[in-house]
This record gives sequence, structure tokens and C-alpha cells, in this order.
Amino acid sequence: MQKFIIEGGNRLSGEITLQGCKNSSLPIMAASLIPEGKCIISNCPQLTDIYSAARILNRLGSRCNFSNNTVTVDSFSADGSEIPSELMKEMRASIIFMGAMLSRMKKCKVSTPGGCNLGIRSIDMHISALRKMGVEITENGTDIICRIPSGRAKGTKITLPFPSVGATENIILCAVMAEGETIINNSAREPEICDLCGFLRACGADIKGDGESSIFIKGKEKLHGCEYRIMSDRIACATYLCMTASTGGEMIIKDACVAESEPFLSVLEQTGARIETGKDRIFLRSGARLKALKNRIRTMPHPGFPTDAQAVFMSALCTADGTSIFEENIFDNRYRHTDAFVRMGADIEVIGNKVAVVRGVKRLHGAEVEATDLRGGAGMVIAALSAEGRSEITEISHIDRGYEKIENVVSLLGGKIKRV
Ligand code: EPZ
Repeated sequence: MQKFIIEGGNRLSGEITLQGCKNSSLPIMAASLIPEGKCIISNCPQLTDIYSAARILNRLGSRCNFSNNTVTVDSFSADGSEIPSELMKEMRASIIFMGAMLSRMKKCKVSTPGGCNLGIRSIDMHISALRKMGVEITENGTDIICRIPSGRAKGTKITLPFPSVGATENIILCAVMAEGETIINNSAREPEICDLCGFLRACGADIKGDGESSIFIKGKEKLHGCEYRIMSDRIACATYLCMTASTGGEMIIKDACVAESEPFLSVLEQTGARIETGKDRIFLRSGARLKALKNRIRTMPHPGFPTDAQAVFMSALCTADGTSIFEENIFDNRYRHTDAFVRMGADIEVIGNKVAVVRGVKRLHGAEVEATDLRGGAGMVIAALSAEGRSEITEISHIDRGYEKIENVVSLLGGKIKRV
């Protein structure tokens, strides 16, 4: 079991290059199952979740190789249609292979996916949308068995009750090879959806409207291979900005996804941190103590404040001047990190499962804490870096699922961190 030992209290400063985006790399790797030609996908972060996606592809008969940050996938001979439950359990995004397998193999067998424990994470919208597209689905409590009796899924109009990221991705993946046009109303508008569609278009798919609330997909008989560069990771971007801001430091982020980060940057700015942006650069300077936010921080589907940035922003606001109020609207159990922050001296009151009141304290102190999930764990790294004294963070495998060599980035910024 590895852990991080962090000596807090250093003001961070420096220049970093942002990693590629985990949450678009995963559906894009699933999508690479569909074309019969080779896909060369660059800027893919080296993360345990990405290695899980590579294992799934190899298991399905694709040839998937990783070299530095480029994944090459050749799915010419792919013929598998079953993902064993031990692979499904490794991450949530395994469920996205369902749409890709239906496009390519016209059938699949999967089980309930794993991933961070953020409360009930149902897949009912995925199932009902695919059924509407002519997929026959049987669920027996553990397995989900799908087949397309007519041999090809049918394009149709689907209105999602909530703009689910995963359901939108699964529908797109199934629709690119369906017969006729699929229209997704109330689709997710996250930048990662646009990245997936960009990749599929590079493979020859006909998709319009991504990034807006209706997506139009005309099915094709075949897709071809392509070369594609993954976008930068807007949540890693938010994490490193919070990390530096909470220590009163300054930084430049290169290869930043500036427009995609706007919903977060506009809120971070309200803490008094100075932010300037260039074409693909973000500059942050945060000399004084951060200010608490006057308005509630409400997590919302994009372009609202991202739920994935809630924990990291909260860690920075633990030592802000005044009281900030968070409202989590996406997941029903996403405050598990607050206990660790409190052990480090934060004053946080969680009311029900939606609201957290953070009364800023002057300083946090080091403590022994356990990462509860990916973003909560990253929040603990941030809290430990701004705290006085030594912290130990265990269960860091959660953090390794989403942050590429986080300890190297922290060290580059002058933070004292050791992986042991
Ligand atoms: C994606 O999860 C991301 N994961 C999450 O990032 C992110 O927090 C989330 O989108 C929201 O932005 C990946 O991309 C791999 P949803 P996903 O479907 O697709 C409910 C991280 O830290 N729902 O938009 O699972 C669901 O229970 C991770 O990187 C249903 O009820 O998110 C949840 O409350 C964590 N039925 C809400 O919708 C469904 O069929 C949002 O889920 C589908 C979803």
C-alpha cells in the first residue's frame, strides 16, 4: 500500500504543463473499438483507469499499445463481446464499452461498473435509451446482456430526463453505426462529449450539435482509423490552480483548456485570486488570504460549476476569510472528503447530503487521513500542502486513477511530497 507524506506550509510557484483529459480518453478508447482501422491517440494521460481501458480493449481482441502518452489501438480483429466483472469493477467508464460493442459486435455482456463511491450511480438512462434504439436488454441482477435482433440499431429521438454524461456517450457510440438519424435532446454538454465526437468525426462519423443540448447523429456503415489528440484535463487544471491558490502562490499552466475551464475560473476569481488567460495558458497569482464566496457554489451540469472540482475548491476555501456554502446537485454522496478536512482543522458542517457550510479557519494542521475517492483524495493533497506540519495520506490508489504523477507536479511547484 503506497501513501503520500506531505510537509505543508510552502508557498507553491512555478510552471506546469497540463495532462491530457481522463474523462475523454476513456470514452475515446472505448470508441476506438468501432473503426476497423488503426487509431493513434496522443496526449493520453498515464493513469490506472487508462490502463484498465487498455486491458478491456485487449480482452475484446483489439491490439492496444501504450508508448509514453500515445495509445495505438488496432481493432481490425476485435471479436469479443464480453467484459468480465473483474475488469468492469475497475472503473465506472467500463460501462461506455456497451455502446461501442453494440456498434461493432451488435451484442455485448457486461456487469455493473465500479468507480468512485459517490452514492447511487444508476444506469437506467443508458438502458432505456439503448432499448429505444432497438437493443434487446436482459438484466439478471449481476449481468447486463444486450443484442440487436435486427442486426443494426435504429436511429430514433431520445430525450434524456437529465443530461447524463455517460448515457450521452453510450447513445452516441451506439448511434454512429445505427440505421438512420439519432437525436439526443437534453444531452450532456460537457467538453469531454465534444472531444469524443471530435474523435468519432475524425473516424468518419456524422455528428452535429455536440456542446449544445441536442446532438444529431447520422449512422454510418463503417468508420475508419484516425490520428487524434486528446484535449487537456480541465479538472486537473482546477486542482492545480486550487493547490497553488491555497498556499498564496503563483503559477502558469501551459496546454490549458481555457474556454472549457471558464465555469471554474469565473468562480475561483471571486476568491480574490488574480487570473489571466492566454490562448492555451492560465496564469494565477494569489498573494493574500483567499476570500470566501458570497454566493452558493452550486454544482451543475456543464456549463455550470463542475462537481469534479467541488472537493478541490472546498479544500482551498477551508482557510479562506469568511464562510462559503456548497450545494452538490449531481451526486448524492459527494462530501466524504469533509471528515478528513475536519481532522486537519477545518470547520465544515454538512447538512443532509446536499449542503456543506465551510467556515474559513486561519490555518489547517497536518494529520493522517485516508483518500475516500479520486477528487476527495486530491482535495486532501491540497489541504496537506497548505497545512502546518506533516500529513500522511493513505489509499492513494484513488488519486492515481485521475492525476498523472501528481507528486512530480507538486514537487515542480516547490511542494514537499514523498510517495512511500
Ligand atoms: C461522468 O460520470 C464522469 N466520469 C464523472 O467524473 C463526473 O463527475 C460526471 O460525469 C458528471 O460530470 C467519467 O467521465 C468517467 P453522469 P457519469 O451519468 O457519466 C445519475 C471523476 O471524478 N444518473 O452524468 O457517471 C447519476 O447517478 C468522475 O472524474 C442516473 O440516475 O456521470 C448521477 O447522480 C467522478 N441514471 C448523475 O446522474 C443514469 O442512467 C450524473 O451522472 C445515469 C446517471
